Amino acid sequence: MNVSADLDSDTGEVSDTVSDSGLIVAVDGPSGAGKSSASRGAATELGLRYLDTGSMYRALTWWLLDRGVDVSDAGTVGALAAEPRIEVGTDPQAPWVRVDGTDITSVIRTREVTDAVSAVAVVPRVRAHLIAQQRDIIAQAGGIVAEGRDIGTVVAPDAPVKVYLTAAGAERASRRAVESSRSPAATRIDQDRRDRLDSAQSGKADDAVEIDSTSLSLDQVIDTIVRLAREYSGVPHQRHQSR
Ligand code: DC
Repeated sequence: MNVSADLDSDTGEVSDTVSDSGLIVAVDGPSGAGKSSASRGAATELGLRYLDTGSMYRALTWWLLDRGVDVSDAGTVGALAAEPRIEVGTDPQAPWVRVDGTDITSVIRTREVTDAVSAVAVVPRVRAHLIAQQRDIIAQAGGIVAEGRDIGTVVAPDAPVKVYLTAAGAERASRRAVESSRSPAATRIDQDRRDRLDSAQSGKADDAVEIDSTSLSLDQVIDTIVRLAREYSGVPHQRHQSR
């Protein structure tokens, strides 16, 4: 797959998106590294769709909690994994999540879901079911930035552009603390627990480009991902100073 820059007949400008290219950009890394904002920003700039795979694990977790299922019971969780119909919207400007037709975009971010989701995500039948669905979404997207923990290693190992986004533990916790209005210390304890529980499902692909976002602005991270995608696609890259 290769994309050349198109000349817009109305404006005479060179188009710098890689939309409709079928390009898959995999963005993996731990929570708090800035994956979502960076992936959405890069997808918007590149004219690609966007998939937040974590939101699908969160959606299933919300549905299980709503039914009073004990999420530490892996057998029951696995047996129920395919029950709810989970749908996601892939517009990077306005992603949404629905379960059985109900919009749960906001409620999947609550502390209750965040505390329970790692136990659900570790269950093999859950992963097999959601990974199959994620592969379908990616295959049908016509070009997508997909973020998660195992995109470059398991979900889309053939993705030609792979990024592993990290940040120092303290920096990740302080970013999350701002979002959740809890103290950085309390957030750090939760973060370390989640990192431990998620570690078996998380990995950096050998061919991923590692970006340490500790002292980078969001724009700088987006710009790096966009540059990698354009380099791969053969589209000229213009540096964006602000968004
Ligand atoms: O990125 P997040 O916090 O929304 O992810 C929610 C949970 O899902 C977290 O426990 C990690 C897990 N996850 C996963 O196991 N594999 C993915 N591809 C994405 C998320």
